Amino acid sequence: MSENTDSILEANALYHIYDSKAEDGNVVALRGLHVNVKPGEAVAVVGPSGSGKSTLLKCLGGLMKPSAGNVSLDGNNMTRLTGQELILLRQKTVSFIFQEGNLLPHLSALDNVAQPLRHQKVSPKEAKRRAQELLDELGMGNRSRGLPSTLSGGEQQRVAIARALITQPRLILADEPTGALDPITSREVLALFKELHEEKGVAFLIVTHSAEVAAFCDRSLELRDGRFIAQHGANFEVDDLAETRELIVDDLGTVSFPPDILLEMGGAGRYEVEDIGNGKLVLVSAEENESLLVGGKTLASTCPACNHQYVDEEIQRCPDCGSSRPMV
Ligand SMILES: Nc1ncnc2c1ncn2[C@@H]1O[C@H](COP(=O)(O)OP(=O)(O)OP(=O)(O)O)[C@@H](O)[C@H]1O
Ligand SMILES: [Mg+2]
Repeated sequence: MSENTDSILEANALYHIYDSKAEDGNVVALRGLHVNVKPGEAVAVVGPSGSGKSTLLKCLGGLMKPSAGNVSLDGNNMTRLTGQELILLRQKTVSFIFQEGNLLPHLSALDNVAQPLRHQKVSPKEAKRRAQELLDELGMGNRSRGLPSTLSGGEQQRVAIARALITQPRLILADEPTGALDPITSREVLALFKELHEEKGVAFLIVTHSAEVAAFCDRSLELRDGRFIAQHGANFEVDDLAETRELIVDDLGTVSFPPDILLEMGGAGRYEVEDIGNGKLVLVSAEENESLLVGGKTLASTCPACNHQYVDEEIQRCPDCGSSRPMV
């Protein structure tokens, strides 16, 4: 195992295609993504429904083999490892937290938390002792005998977090971990993540629709249609993405302008390259009309994904489903 790595998670030119026999054919879910998470860093992945967030997380965590590209976990290229080596590497490095369904229904909270240690050949007694200790820490000590079905959503998620933490992972991959929780419980979960991040140096990659979760992260990657289109620094306002945004040009040379930037530029149309240089590109509208907005382009009034009716004039992201707001 290499010790002097400067990435806990690295992926290069990651592609994933779902084969489908349906008429609409194969789905290209990931289109050449690069990811680099440093030890102790917290990175959010934001993007509309269907943009490939869960697919990305599964490929990064070794739960699914990407169609192309490679993923390194703690400096070890996962594509080169055999089954058993891969399992061992995953077990000692990474834990998953999903939106729901993290727990085995027939095991008590305590046994759910202890189970990953059992896979690591820790004795049942010691595994249970450590599980109980962790549940105590998370304020769930007196519920440890309960089956998941007897616990509230927030309690189940705390058990899931204990289960994820028991192996002391250096990286947590989380897919909308607060998505099914009420605001108070989700704040508790976030506080716990913060503590792990700040005090234990645990790295996070979190898929989220929540502005609060994104704000906890050091940076956020914006995924759309299987490509990263932009990166945002810490403390960005989900509704004011322009401030700290960097646009990303992918391997194919494609850059997608987020809708608010496109709106400000003047919308879709023809542009001339006014200036170009190393690290620089200046585009100027080539349309006769100075503003392409003359055609009356505005932000959509309903979300195309979930039919949410926008009340706020300026908001860029659907508060219900997280989709980016398109122009009409
Ligand atoms: N098992 C599958 N077979 C075929 N296509 C799939 C499969 N899983 C996902 N897809 C497709 O791949 C694309 C990306 O899906 P993915 O679940 O990664 O999106 P997501 O960003 O996580 O969406 P959401 O926010 O709704 O969870 C979508 O077009 C989806 O329909
Ligand atoms: Mg998903």
